[in-house]
Amino acid sequence: MRLSLRFIIPLVLALAGLAYAMVPLVDQLTLQWFMRDLDTRSTLISNTVQEPLADLVRAGNRTRIIRYFTGITRDERVYAMAFCASPQDKPVATLSLPKEIRCADLDKFAAPSEHLLTSDQGPLHVTVKPLEAEGVFLGRIAIVHDMSFIARRTEETKKYLFYFFVVLGAMVSFITVVIAQLSWRGWVQGMRALLRGEGLLRPSGRTDLPELRPIARDLRALIRDIEAEHRPRDEHQMAWTPATLRAILHGELRGQDVIVVSNREPYIHVRAGEIIAIHHPASGLVTAMEPIMRACSGTWIAHGSGSADREVVDRRDRIPVPPEKPAYQLRRVWLSAEEEAGYYYGFANEGLWPLCHIAHVRPTFRTSDWEYYVKANRIFAQAVEQESKSKDPIVLVQDYHLALLPRMIRDALPAATVITFWHIPWPNPEAFAICPWREELLDGLLGSSILGFHTQFHCNNFVDTVDRLLEARVDREMFNVSYRGKLTAVKRYPISIEWPPSPPLVAKAAERCKVEVRERHGLPRDQAIGVGVDRLDYTKGIEERFRAVERLLELQPQWIGKFTFVQIAAPSRSSIEQYQEYDARVRAMAERINKRFAAGGGYAPIVLKVEHHEPPEVYEYYRAANLCFVSSLHDGMNLVAKEFVSSRDDDRGVLVLSQFTGAARELPEAIIVNPYDTDQCAAALHMALSMSEDEQRDRMRLMRGLVGEFNVFRWAGRMLIDAAGMRRHGRLLERTAAADSLPTGTHRA
Ligand code: G6P
Repeated sequence: MRLSLRFIIPLVLALAGLAYAMVPLVDQLTLQWFMRDLDTRSTLISNTVQEPLADLVRAGNRTRIIRYFTGITRDERVYAMAFCASPQDKPVATLSLPKEIRCADLDKFAAPSEHLLTSDQGPLHVTVKPLEAEGVFLGRIAIVHDMSFIARRTEETKKYLFYFFVVLGAMVSFITVVIAQLSWRGWVQGMRALLRGEGLLRPSGRTDLPELRPIARDLRALIRDIEAEHRPRDEHQMAWTPATLRAILHGELRGQDVIVVSNREPYIHVRAGEIIAIHHPASGLVTAMEPIMRACSGTWIAHGSGSADREVVDRRDRIPVPPEKPAYQLRRVWLSAEEEAGYYYGFANEGLWPLCHIAHVRPTFRTSDWEYYVKANRIFAQAVEQESKSKDPIVLVQDYHLALLPRMIRDALPAATVITFWHIPWPNPEAFAICPWREELLDGLLGSSILGFHTQFHCNNFVDTVDRLLEARVDREMFNVSYRGKLTAVKRYPISIEWPPSPPLVAKAAERCKVEVRERHGLPRDQAIGVGVDRLDYTKGIEERFRAVERLLELQPQWIGKFTFVQIAAPSRSSIEQYQEYDARVRAMAERINKRFAAGGGYAPIVLKVEHHEPPEVYEYYRAANLCFVSSLHDGMNLVAKEFVSSRDDDRGVLVLSQFTGAARELPEAIIVNPYDTDQCAAALHMALSMSEDEQRDRMRLMRGLVGEFNVFRWAGRMLIDAAGMRRHGRLLERTAAADSLPTGTHRA
């Protein structure tokens, strides 16, 4: 509106000025028109009076001539009339004849340009015409018209002209503003679509806007320049450390607070009699996120699941962590036993978990679980609102427990940057479509600004699923989804681990670890050891692993008594029937195999440790082992593989890795196996146990190089850099939208 006035007022003034400038011209013109009019009238009068006046002149009757003339001058515009027989005579005239008109001077009114007389009575028009009868010249007639009406008319004309121009000005400005508005809106929308990467589309007709192309090119180049300027040097040349991450946060993201939301918390307080112990959960998600939070500070919102969790938090359910050196806040949310059962055990772990993993376990979907899932996501969303210090926080939403959260955050905090990371595989559209709440889940996830997966394959599956199940626009070149007017970038961010590993984890020398672990299990000093570290989960392929150990001993009996496989299995999701059954099957299988090869002695090829192990204990096993066997049937990434590599600063040990893990794509120097192929796995174990030290070193160094370079700081850093880029993009769009909204006062989001 303000812009419109700013435009209309000068335009109206300019037109009014123009109207004034035109007044003399108009005066001139109207005068000419009226003069011509009066000339014609005078000729008409002269022609009309010829005969009667000639008769009166011949009769020599002055009085009658004057009376005749007086009759004519009753016409309001004929002011006076006179007759001169010769220049020497006195005019026979009406009383109104101005004294300036004398018979001797009539010649001076002959030319049309000289008909104007300014007398004491005002402006007059004088025409002189001959009076003739039958070809004989009798004298001259002077016809005098009053011109004061012309002045009146001119004044009126000027007035109308002025109003005309003012109205014209208003109309022109109005039309111009409307047209400008429409084309500006179209232009802006085009530009915004372009910046969102939607191409040169008109909002309505989706037609190419060729006039925008050069501007779009320039704008894109500008954005690229700004981005390049802000990108902290060359990403690939950088060493990714906590400091790099902090630099990104304080530079790119201007010190914005980061809020992480996950179901699992990084520190679990558990009451053990008089004391409260702190557990580090066995969770790839926690392993990856914790060093990030230590570097970034901020707040981590998670479910307080420990028996002593409530005892240690403050009034706002917060506790600073890590306990030994606080660096960030852990904000706990509370769920009732029913909520946890429905949301976590039910929908997340009996529904989504088997749905997303090809582990041949059927998903179970119950309406009541779904309702708790929605409710729990809402509880997390409220916590995000409470914890965000600004309108536009950066929220990192973690995993399949919180698929609805991104949309809930987007609704509550529209300016937030929501980065969601899906830590598990994303199935193909057919598999995903099994879920009765598939659309709701997709809608929830598409509240994210960025949605990340470990592998391109999972990104493809997600985009295919959206394409199949939602009314959304999928751009496979840019890899983003446009849905409900918002864009979600779908990107691959292979997760990783802290590098270098935290010093306490590798403090004990590898040789010492070997000795201690063997002693702990009563094994000879030269016993070959294989290790497996997992949650006791059916996706991990623990049965397949044991079968491979058994097959190794069948095919390569020289390893009987010489090789022990230690399986660390953290109890997990034990309330779920399928996990209980799995636990029983795994234990039974270990027992059976151990019995089979015990041969009366104390040899047990499998040591199954179904209990929680703290990270330093796990690292001790990694460092003590000849090989680590990761045989997941399906795994988003699998960080055990990377942890094993990071633990081996002695460049020894062999990784046997399932081809169905995300990690297999990054670590080709591992011995890659199909866990369903028992013979192949047995051969891989034999190969690992027989591998020369040189080959072990070569392979391990390559893998350590990769994990070191592509560590978890890079994983988070890349997401934050992308988020920062999006925010810059968003600000640019906002500015365009703000300019767009000025003329009408309306705001378009
Ligand atoms: C997987 C999931 C994580 C989860 C972890 C442990 O890695 O992706 O979200 O935290 O398993 O499972 P739990 O159910 O104990 O959290």
